[in-house]
Formats: sequence, C-alpha cells, structure tokens
Amino acid sequence: MNFAQELLQWYQQNKRDLPWRNTNDAYVIWLSEVILQQTRVDQGMPYFYRFLERYPNVSSFAAADEDEILKLWQGLGYYSRGRNMLKTARLIQAQYHGLFPTAYSDLIKLKGIGSYTAAAISSFAANEIRAVVDGNVYRVLARYFGIDEPINSTKGKKTFQSIADDLINKKMPGLHNQAMMEFGAMLCKPKNPACGICPVRVGCYAFKHNAINHLPVKLKK
Ligand code: ADE
Repeated sequence: MNFAQELLQWYQQNKRDLPWRNTNDAYVIWLSEVILQQTRVDQGMPYFYRFLERYPNVSSFAAADEDEILKLWQGLGYYSRGRNMLKTARLIQAQYHGLFPTAYSDLIKLKGIGSYTAAAISSFAANEIRAVVDGNVYRVLARYFGIDEPINSTKGKKTFQSIADDLINKKMPGLHNQAMMEFGAMLCKPKNPACGICPVRVGCYAFKHNAINHLPVKLKK
C-alpha cells in the first residue's frame, strides 16, 4: 500500500465519530468548518449543536440578527468569523435562493470562504476532487516527504497544495481529505507525535532523519 492508502486504512479503523462527518449537507459542513477554523473540536462541538438547533438551514441563518449570532458565538473568539458567516448566508439566500452551493468554483467566490473551506465543502458534500490543506495537512506532508519550504510563504503554500493535489484519492476525495486531517490531529501531532504506532513511519522522512521537531518550517514574520 502507498502512503495515501495507508492513511485511508488508518482512518477507517481509528476515526472519531464526529457529527459533521455523517452528512453531505453543505450548510452543516460549512458551519462546522468555520467553527473549527480557530477552535478545537471539543470546544467547538457544543457551539456547532447550538447553531444547528437555532438555525437548521442557511435560510434561517440568513434571517438572524447580527447581535443574535454574536451572542451565540460568545466564547469562541475571532468574532469576525460570525459576522462573515452572516454576510455569506445572506448572499447565498439572495443569489442561490437558500440552496447552499457545493461546487468549488461557486464557493470560492463567496466572501469569507477561502480555498480551504471551499475544498472542504465541495469534497465532503459533493465528492469534488479538491485537496484540503490545513495546519494538519501541512504538518503531515512536511514530515513524511521532508519538505522544508516555509508553510507560510507563497511558494511554500503552492508546493504543499500541489503535493496534496497529486496525493488525493480520485474515487474518495472527501474521505481522503478527512483522513489526512484526522491523521494530523490524532497521530502526527505537533508535539509528541505517536511515531511508535504510526503505520507510515518506515517511509517517513522526518522519522528517519530525526527531524520531527524541525518540520514543518514556519517563517517568523
Ligand atoms: N478540523 C477542521 N475540520 C475538521 C473536520 N472536518 N474534522 C475534524 N476536525 C476538523
């Protein structure tokens, strides 16, 4: 098995059962991904449920007052996320009549949705072949392939996106993306990664060269 196949197998045997993984509703996926952008899963979970209960679809979200959204958002920080979500929801209500788009090319045009979120929604909701690259994916790729280009440089971002694009499973892009992120979050962690039980350590550059703590490289700005 190659690297991607090993990760997929690991994922299927070890994944957490998270609520946003059991749906292909683009609105629900969007909600979870924006909440999880700067928030840990265990912290974000109750917010995810609260928002979903109050606003079960993008039309109800779009009809909310900003004050109401910000109140529900309390404790999550980065309040611009909540404000941008309301703008995006209203735009979707107006342009798409409340039908949340699932195509990457539509999503990427929306304010507040960048390449990560567009790739996540289109691959999870519609199985579009779009590789997600978040902090977890940077770390996994940098370590396994020994990439020392800074993850916060323009050139580095391009390099990592291109490796991720090459690696994606074309039959199961959504599952592949979840597997990459889950592997980074649960096993190939920033500190004290679980190399002892890692299914791909034999091929891992950082493991072989004792470079776990030096990869990925991030430029101080
Ligand atoms: N963090 C960001 N997106 C995630 C997802 N889909 N599953 C688990 N953690 C995440």
